[in-house]
Amino acid sequence: MPNFAALFIANNMKKRIALFISGRGSNMEAILKACRTGILQDIAEPVLVFSNRADAKGLAVAQAMGVETQVIESKGLKRPAFDAKVLDLLQTYQPNFIVLAGYMRILSPLLVQAYPQRIINIHPADTTQHQGLHGYEWAFDNKLASTKITVHYVDEGLDTGNIIAQKTVDLSGTNTLEEVEQRGLTAEHEFYSSVLKTILEA
Ligand code: GAR
Repeated sequence: MPNFAALFIANNMKKRIALFISGRGSNMEAILKACRTGILQDIAEPVLVFSNRADAKGLAVAQAMGVETQVIESKGLKRPAFDAKVLDLLQTYQPNFIVLAGYMRILSPLLVQAYPQRIINIHPADTTQHQGLHGYEWAFDNKLASTKITVHYVDEGLDTGNIIAQKTVDLSGTNTLEEVEQRGLTAEHEFYSSVLKTILEA
C-alpha cells in the first residue's frame, strides 16, 4: 500500500514545469522521461506540453506519456497578442518554470516579465557565437571541431539571455550533418535534464 501522505507531500514539493515545443520534441521527451524515472523524478512535475503548432510531432509523444497538451496556433497572430493568449492559458496550469525545448519563437516582454528568471532554453551552439535556427548546420558548414551546447535564461532577444551552463561536444570524426546533429542531440538530452535539476533544486 503506497504511503499517500508521503506521496502528496513529495508531489507538492516538486516544481511544476511547462514544456514549450514547436516540432519533434526529442529534448521534451528526454525531460519527460527524466521526470518519470530519471534524475528529475523527485524534483519536477510536467504539468503541460504547449506548442504554437498543431503539427508539432512532439505533441503525440507527450500525450502517449500521459502529459496534458495544449496548442495555440501562432500563425497569423502578432507576437504580443499571441503571447497574451499563452499567458492566459498558463494561468490554468500555474507552472513554476517554463522549459523551452525546440520552441522556435522569440518571446515578448509580456511573457518574459511574467516569469523572471523562470524561462529556460537550450541551444545547440555557443549563444555568444551563433543564435537562432540551424546551430548544427552552422557547426558543420564551418567544420568546427566541437560545439558548445548552451542552456540559458530567456529574455526578449534571440538566444541572448544569461548563460546558465555550457557543455562542449567533440565533433571530431563526424562526416555528415546527420552525424553532427545526432552526436549533439544525444548530449543535449542528458545535459538539459542535469542543468534543470540544478536550477529546480536551488
Ligand atoms: C534542438 O537542437 C535545440 O537545441 C534547438 O532545436 C532543436 C530542437 O530539437 N533549439 C534552438 O536552435 C533554439 N535556438 P527537438 O525538438 O528534437 O528537441
